[in-house]
Amino acid sequence: MQIKAPRGTKDIIPSESYKWNYLESKFRKICSLYGYEEIRTPIFENTELFQRGVGDTTDIVQKEMYSFKDRGDRSITLKPEGTAGVIRAFIENKMYADAQPTKLFYMIPCFRYERPQSGRQRQFHQFGIEAIGSDTPSLDAEVIELAMQYLKEIGLDNLSVSLNSVGCPVCRKAYNEKLRNYLKEKAEVLCDLCNERREKNPMRVIDCKNEACQENIEDIPLIADNLCSDCQIHFDTLKKYLDEMNISYEIDKKIVRGLDYYKRTAFEIIANGLGSQSTVCGGGRYDGLVEDIGGPAGNSGIGFAMGAERLMLTLEANNVEIEKTNRQDIFIVTIGDMAKLKSFAILKELRDNNISADKDHLDRSVKAQFKYANKIQAKYTVVIGDDELENNQAALKNMETGEQKEIKISELVKELKKEL
Ligand code: HAM
Repeated sequence: MQIKAPRGTKDIIPSESYKWNYLESKFRKICSLYGYEEIRTPIFENTELFQRGVGDTTDIVQKEMYSFKDRGDRSITLKPEGTAGVIRAFIENKMYADAQPTKLFYMIPCFRYERPQSGRQRQFHQFGIEAIGSDTPSLDAEVIELAMQYLKEIGLDNLSVSLNSVGCPVCRKAYNEKLRNYLKEKAEVLCDLCNERREKNPMRVIDCKNEACQENIEDIPLIADNLCSDCQIHFDTLKKYLDEMNISYEIDKKIVRGLDYYKRTAFEIIANGLGSQSTVCGGGRYDGLVEDIGGPAGNSGIGFAMGAERLMLTLEANNVEIEKTNRQDIFIVTIGDMAKLKSFAILKELRDNNISADKDHLDRSVKAQFKYANKIQAKYTVVIGDDELENNQAALKNMETGEQKEIKISELVKELKKEL
């Protein structure tokens, strides 16, 4: 029996990986331009981090985590998202003692046990940033702008930002009471999970995927209509900053996000034409999270994560082509045993000079070597035969134009440097 990749996972093979390299290098570049530095945290963390960070009434923690006991009987979880691990590292490495804000980015695999479909996998990848150490809306504006700028640079500019404020503990206290009273009346028409969450974490009900629940709570009170004055000012100021930067957005009061750490700003970036999994980016502010997982008070933060697979699908849906840049510069075609032997030295010289080069490794005929060079889209070929070796001559062919010229083998590197 053939062994297949686990359900919900995908191989990224060379016909795809060059696109990933492109998206990753663009992401690195823009992060560096905005002053964000890379952070790498472990792929697994203690389960408690996500229970406390993401929240134990969320779908992620209740239904989707890859958790297991290790051989030392510790409960371990494969990262379902990036923020909690970054904040744990921020605290553990005392990064709060550095000049603030701390601006970090990451590109990571994440794991969620969800029903796989297009744009939804069990192992997927996130490109994310976290800006920690300031609660002013200017950082919120920068984070949203960075996301939009990145998407624009990779060729996607018809995306929309949906924006909301999910309040803070002050406004949520009164609001949650209002919500509980409203939901109590609906107890009979809500699903079991909503009824379970209605007391503990009533805002979660707004995020329920059950259509019947959604139909029954159409007039549910929303936090954006119940903000305290500080949250309202924060939200209004953010909108002013976004207007100043010409970033258009729509207010979507129903965004609550699937993670419990959000306070105030919550946003999503939606790609049109991607079907049900159209959210390419999700983010928001998480004031209080540092404290919740054992760090010092007063370290607010905001960030986002983009789903890399969804970015890829959006690029395809918009017919954005990514050019394959890692083509070989030259393929050496050899005729005869002596040429085959000498091709090792020529190959080494080319590679030493930073010219990507390859030769035949399958004892192919000359015709088949050319066919192969075509297939791998080598930019040039050079034909070397025993006779050519003797008089230091070879034919250099531009595979795109078909142009061919005689060169001295000893000057191959010099010639190619001129051409490439
Ligand atoms: P999230 O909305 O749960 O937020 O995930 C961010 C993005 O990851 C989603 O918008 C989506 O594009 C992608 N994504 C999520 N689940 C899957 C999946 N099963 N398959 C493919 N793509 C998926 C977070 O994870 C937060 N940590 C974001 C954040 C950072 N907030 C503040 N800082």
